[in-house]
Amino acid sequence: MTEQEPQTPTPSIQAAPVAQMTRRNFIWTAWAAFATFIGGSAAAMGRFMLPNVLYESPQAFKAGKPEDYPMGVSTKLLKEQRVWIVKTEDSLYALWARCTHLGCTPNWWDSEKRFKCPCHGSNYTIQGDVIAGPAPKPLNRCAIALLSNGEILVDKAILETRPGFREKNQFKITIKES
Ligand code: FES
Repeated sequence: MTEQEPQTPTPSIQAAPVAQMTRRNFIWTAWAAFATFIGGSAAAMGRFMLPNVLYESPQAFKAGKPEDYPMGVSTKLLKEQRVWIVKTEDSLYALWARCTHLGCTPNWWDSEKRFKCPCHGSNYTIQGDVIAGPAPKPLNRCAIALLSNGEILVDKAILETRPGFREKNQFKITIKES
């Protein structure tokens, strides 16, 4: 009789318990996925419905007093407001510095007493009338008023380009009765 070597016990490998997806778990998981989808869609739709607000500078601004301006064209508000203040013998008005052709900013040439657009060559008189180039209509004038404290208020939201209308009181300040 041969002696048998003692056998070392082999560790029993137990399978990890398999997570079983019960019918109940499946339904809850499906509902959670559906709720996530609906919530995400609602959030995306809500963002879509909100307006994209652009915070632009207000269109109306105070421009000092008439006595702050010399006779002729003042370019001091050109960079900040894109407006020229024009002072004549008897009135003061504000021209919007936007070419009526394609919207470039003309330059004031004091030696030639005209505005010249650098883009396609439109020229305008000091009143804003077209004297050369492709511009289809005169420069716009902005609404203008004198406040009770003597300050000028210019409103770029109200514009007028038509001769006969642009000379109305809404678009000029009378500084001396003629
Ligand atoms: S944009 Fe001024 S002439 Fe064309």
